Amino acid sequence: MKIAVIGGDGTGPEVTAEALKVLKAVAKLEGFDYSSTDYDFGGERYLKTGEILPAGAIDELRQYQAIFLGAIGHPDVAPGILERGLLLQLRFEFDQYINLRPVKLFPGVETPLANKGPKDVDFVVVRENTEDMYTGVGGFLKKNTPDEVATQIAVYTRKGCERCIRWAFEYTRKRNNPKGKKLTLVAKTNVLTFGHDLWWRTFQEVAKEYPDVQPDYNHVDACCMWMVKNPEYYDVIVTTNMFGDIITDLAAMIQGGMGVAAGGNINPDAEGVSMFEPMGGSAPKYTGKNVINPIAAISAMSMLLTHTGQEAAGKRVWEAVQVVTGTKMKSQAAGKMGHSTTEVGDLVVEAL
Ligand code: IPM
Ligand code: MN
Repeated sequence: MKIAVIGGDGTGPEVTAEALKVLKAVAKLEGFDYSSTDYDFGGERYLKTGEILPAGAIDELRQYQAIFLGAIGHPDVAPGILERGLLLQLRFEFDQYINLRPVKLFPGVETPLANKGPKDVDFVVVRENTEDMYTGVGGFLKKNTPDEVATQIAVYTRKGCERCIRWAFEYTRKRNNPKGKKLTLVAKTNVLTFGHDLWWRTFQEVAKEYPDVQPDYNHVDACCMWMVKNPEYYDVIVTTNMFGDIITDLAAMIQGGMGVAAGGNINPDAEGVSMFEPMGGSAPKYTGKNVINPIAAISAMSMLLTHTGQEAAGKRVWEAVQVVTGTKMKSQAAGKMGHSTTEVGDLVVEAL
């Protein structure tokens, strides 16, 4: 296994170091070889050189099975530059059309939802990751005048939604939830009568190929209500890029916050390059203090392992993380864990 590592900005390198520590330990225990290569892409490099991804970077990254990304976002770089130039660029260049976000409340982790526990918050969001309002289609007319017009087009293609929906059905089947296999399409068909009609029709058609999976539908606004009131309702959700962005942050909060939420940007092709990341961002105010929570990064590494064929190792890390949250950590908030960043990494290694 060959992986590229982009520690990135702020606390990114700190949490990445813990994920790599866990990778090293589990590789030894499970008996597989890997190599990891560091790349210094991010805000610092951009400020020094003016480039985000240097020429040839994409081709170079193409030789890896997966990329591990710590965090991007720098206080001295205007918002959006690094996000578009690095994160979105990699998603598009590698056609990582699935954004996979397991939403699992680990044992011992506090949720803001009253009377809900790990049994209730355990679902997965499959977010389309290459289309919608993220394509950058649109523009200005009469910019900076009182008559200014701005358009931001949501682009949906049959191919784009079908491949995502089909992948979500396959995933639901494989997940094999003992409570019943259910895939909920989350969209807004009552208002987005073109784009989400395409999603709806495609969903109905693909559903016929999966008679063992119950097809289900929620409008996105209703989904936000149910997610808070009855999270146990969900098994797998499939949704559009923009709505997926929003509901996965809501989901991150009910699973215990940014310190624990991890995600994958997946190109499912055999030759595809996928990218795994903690959701937490670069957290500049905690940088270098050894207080940031590495659980999300370690969970992202577990997802990377599962995706790259090291399923036993992925599962082992996923379980070790839950031992640590359940028995060793006081809180998932930075500075309040009862341990430093590096100690939490050590505890996961010990639990392995
Ligand atoms: C995410 C992030 C990104 C997105 C930003 C940083 C561009 O919020 O991964 O959810 O909107 O997709
Ligand atoms: Mn987001």
